[in-house]
Amino acid sequence: MVIEPSANSLSPGKRPPALTRTRLCPPLLLWQMMYRPLEFLVDVGRQHDVVRLGWMGAPFYLVTQPELVKQMLGDTRRFLKGTIFKKLQMVLGKGLVTLDGQAWIDARRRIQQAFRPGLMPRQQAIVIRHTRELIERLQKSSSLEAVDLDTMTTELMLRIALELLFGASPDLIDLEETRHAVDECNDYARYRIWSMTPERWNTPRKRRFVAALDVLEAIVARVIAQRRSESKAERAERCDVLSLLFEAGFEGVELRDHVMTMFVAGHETTAGSVAFLLGLLARHPQVQQRLYEEIEPSPEWTVPLQAVPVTEAVWKETLRLYPSVPILDRLAAREVQLGEYAIPAGANLIWSPYVMHRKYCPDAERFDPGRFLGESTPTGGWFIPFGEGPRMCIGKSLADMEGLTISALLTRAFEITPADGADMTVRPMITLRPSNGFAARLQPRQTPASIRARPSATSIK
Ligand code: HEM
Repeated sequence: MVIEPSANSLSPGKRPPALTRTRLCPPLLLWQMMYRPLEFLVDVGRQHDVVRLGWMGAPFYLVTQPELVKQMLGDTRRFLKGTIFKKLQMVLGKGLVTLDGQAWIDARRRIQQAFRPGLMPRQQAIVIRHTRELIERLQKSSSLEAVDLDTMTTELMLRIALELLFGASPDLIDLEETRHAVDECNDYARYRIWSMTPERWNTPRKRRFVAALDVLEAIVARVIAQRRSESKAERAERCDVLSLLFEAGFEGVELRDHVMTMFVAGHETTAGSVAFLLGLLARHPQVQQRLYEEIEPSPEWTVPLQAVPVTEAVWKETLRLYPSVPILDRLAAREVQLGEYAIPAGANLIWSPYVMHRKYCPDAERFDPGRFLGESTPTGGWFIPFGEGPRMCIGKSLADMEGLTISALLTRAFEITPADGADMTVRPMITLRPSNGFAARLQPRQTPASIRARPSATSIK
C-alpha cells in the first residue's frame, strides 16, 4: 500500500474542526480510547459530523454523518482498512477482514460462494441441531441454576462455526480453553491499538496473548489437517468456507490467515449478539412474551425469516444497542474530499455503528423493538451494524439466520429471567461483549397448551 504524503497541501475543502481544550492532549485521548472509548466517542460524535480527535503520527478523525460514512465505505480505493485493522493482523493475519486491494477482491469473490442463499437451509439445519442439543443439556441440568449467557452462546457458536464453516467437529477443540484464548487475543489487540508502551516489551499481558494465540494456531492447524485429504467431489458437496479455500489453491500462511479470520469473525460476533438479545429479553418480560407468542405455534421452527417480524425487530434492536463491532476505521490512501472537508493522506478515520446508533436514534438508550416494526423502520442510513458498501459483512445473512433461529428456539424452550438483577454493561474489546457474562435463569416453559390459555401479553408497539 502506498500513501501519498501530502498532509500540508490540502485540497480546497475546509479542515474538519478539532477537539478543543485539554481533550486534544495525546495521553488523555489515549486514556479515553483505552478505558471508556464508547462513552467518549458518543459524547464527541453527538456534537460533530466530522471531528479531528488528535494527531498520532497522522491525524485521526471521527466521522458520524451517515452520508459521509457511506461515501467512505463505498470507496475502497481511496479508503483502506485503518490502524485498528492493521493491529488486528497480529491475530487474524491477512484474511478477508484485514486485506486491501486486489488480494481482498479475489478472496472475497471466492469466499462469497460459501454464503450464497441456496446453502441457507443446510446451514440452518446445523444451527437448529446444535441449539436443540444445547436445550437438551440445559433441560437435564437444574433449572434453578444460573447460566452465564455469554459463555453459553459462545460455546454454542463455536460448535456451529466449526461445523458450518469448516466441516469440523467440536471434539477438535476444548471449548473453554478456546473461549478464553479468543478473549485474550481480542483484549490484547485492542490494548495494542491505544497503548503507548513498545510492542516488544515482554509483559505478562503479552505472554498471555502469545500463549492464547498458540492455542488458536493449533486449532486452525487441526481444522486444516482434518480436511486436507478430501477429494474434489467431497469438497464440492460440502461447499463450506474451507472447501472453497482449498479449491482456490490457498496454502501455508495465506490459508491459515483465511481460516483464522473466518473462525474468529464467524463465531464471536454472533455469540455476543445472541447473549445481548437474551439478556435484554430477561430484562423485558413483555417483549419476551410477545416474541414467544410469535414463535410458539410453529413446532419445527425454521426460516422464512419474514414470517417472524417481532423476533426480527428484537434482533435488530439488539444490534442497534449493542453492535458487535462497535468501532472501526479506514485510512485515507491519498488526500481526499469527504463532504465539505479535506482529509489529508495517511489520516485515520474512525466510524462507529455504536455512536451512529445513538446519535441519530430518538431516546437511544431505551430498548424498543417497536422501532423496527411495520412502518416505523428507521430511515436515514444510520443503522449499519454490518457496515455498508462493498466491504459489508460477508456473513450478514448467515448471522441474521443464526441470531433469529437461536433466539427463537431458546425462547420457545425457556422463560428467561435475570439472575443478578444488575444492569447490562459491556466490555468494549474489538468486539462488544457483555461484562460478567449476564447471569440468567432458564426455566423450562409450561406446555404450549397451557401457555395459549393465558391472556395475551401487552403489545411491544
Ligand atoms: C451479528 C453478527 C455480525 C456483525 C454485527 C458483523 C459485523 C461486521 C462489520 C461491521 C463488518 C464490516 C467491517 C468493515 O467494513 O470494516 C464485517 C465484516 C466481515 N464479517 Fe461480519 N459481522 C457479524 C457476523 C459475521 C459472521 C457470522 C461472519 C462469518 C461467518 C462474519 C465475517 C465477516 C468478514 C469475513 C468480514 C470482512 C468482509 C470484507 O471485508 O470483505 N461476520 N462484519
